[in-house]
Amino acid sequence: MTTRPRFATRLLLAQGLVLVAGAVTTWLVATAVAPGIFHDHLSRAGVEHTTEETRHVEEAFGSALLISLGVALLISVVAALAVSWYFSRHVQRSLSQVSEAAAQLAAGRYQVRVGDPLLGAEFASLADTYNALAERLEATEATRRRMLADLAHEMRTPLATIEAHLEAVEDHVRELDADTVAVLRDSTRRLGRLAEDVAAVSRAEEGDLHLDPRPVDAASLAASAAAAALDRYAARGVELRTVLRPAGSVTVDAERIGQVLGNLLDNALQHTPAGGAVTLTCAPVGGWVEYVVADTGEGIAPEHLPHLFDRFYRVDVARDRDHGGSGIGLAIAKALAEAHGGGVSVASDGRGHGATFTVRLPA
Ligand SMILES: Nc1ncnc2c1ncn2[C@@H]1O[C@H](COP(=O)(O)OP(=O)(O)OP(=O)(O)O)[C@@H](O)[C@H]1O
Ligand SMILES: [Mg+2]
Repeated sequence: MTTRPRFATRLLLAQGLVLVAGAVTTWLVATAVAPGIFHDHLSRAGVEHTTEETRHVEEAFGSALLISLGVALLISVVAALAVSWYFSRHVQRSLSQVSEAAAQLAAGRYQVRVGDPLLGAEFASLADTYNALAERLEATEATRRRMLADLAHEMRTPLATIEAHLEAVEDHVRELDADTVAVLRDSTRRLGRLAEDVAAVSRAEEGDLHLDPRPVDAASLAASAAAAALDRYAARGVELRTVLRPAGSVTVDAERIGQVLGNLLDNALQHTPAGGAVTLTCAPVGGWVEYVVADTGEGIAPEHLPHLFDRFYRVDVARDRDHGGSGIGLAIAKALAEAHGGGVSVASDGRGHGATFTVRLPA
């Protein structure tokens, strides 16, 4: 890389080439054409002169031409040197700032940014692109770190439970009886589900899903989601109502959208005490089909609403984890709905006022 000519050298070479071309042309004109014209004019001027005088005047013309050409060339060379020096310094300084910043990026320091090099539109856009790249990488890196930290945190509890129970069995403090096995099973099941959920949300968010979209009746999709959840609702004494208006058909992967609605119905059940009710509505709204899951349960405080769809986010970590939740359900629901060109949103009037989740899909 260092053997390649520097920018300043190239600029100077290019200008040198222009100078040489100019000088050669001028010299050709000055030696081949100018003396003839001068001689012609001198003889046509009609002034009486000897051959000696003519030779003298022509010589004077020749050296005047030579001197003016020489001075012009000298000044051009000096100007070329000065311009090359000035521009190359300016450009090199800006480029080395960008390349230094890129090296920082490569080394994993994503917070570096570059300023406008003040060299025109192209350089400004280079700096902007660089900054956008750095910003993206910084955000991705932050998510990755948070994901790993959350994942480690989620794994710790079931692992600690397994560890403690196995130790107790080894020390004969505990029997390996049905109770112990049940606790161990519960923990391994939780770890298994965690692994599945993390894989699912990553696939969905990377768009690496094998969706099998087919036209299905929007209302019957909601009806089957409600039917699948009905037993669980009955078991906990929560009423499940459905309001299904004819909404035409949606082109979706029925199984995935069933999973989204199932997630929302499970959440609503989880957060609605016995005696409460959950309503699943399906209706056409504009160019969309909207599924609304509204519960009369405990509701959500406003400060939690913006984070609800983040991976691993739970309002009440200890209690929600006791429900067996890892806080991934809504992240999966969001990614799946978005993969279908739709989205999920939430509204709640606060603690004690129930919550409403809305899924929209393009009709
Ligand atoms: N209907 C609801 N009413 C009140 N809070 C809710 C409701 N639905 C979700 N939440 C809150 O949002 C959090 C995130 O929900 P999410 O479905 O992502 O996770 P989870 O249900 O805890 O676990 P998972 O779905 O992965 O088993 C829940 O922990 C809960 O605190
Ligand atoms: Mg959930």
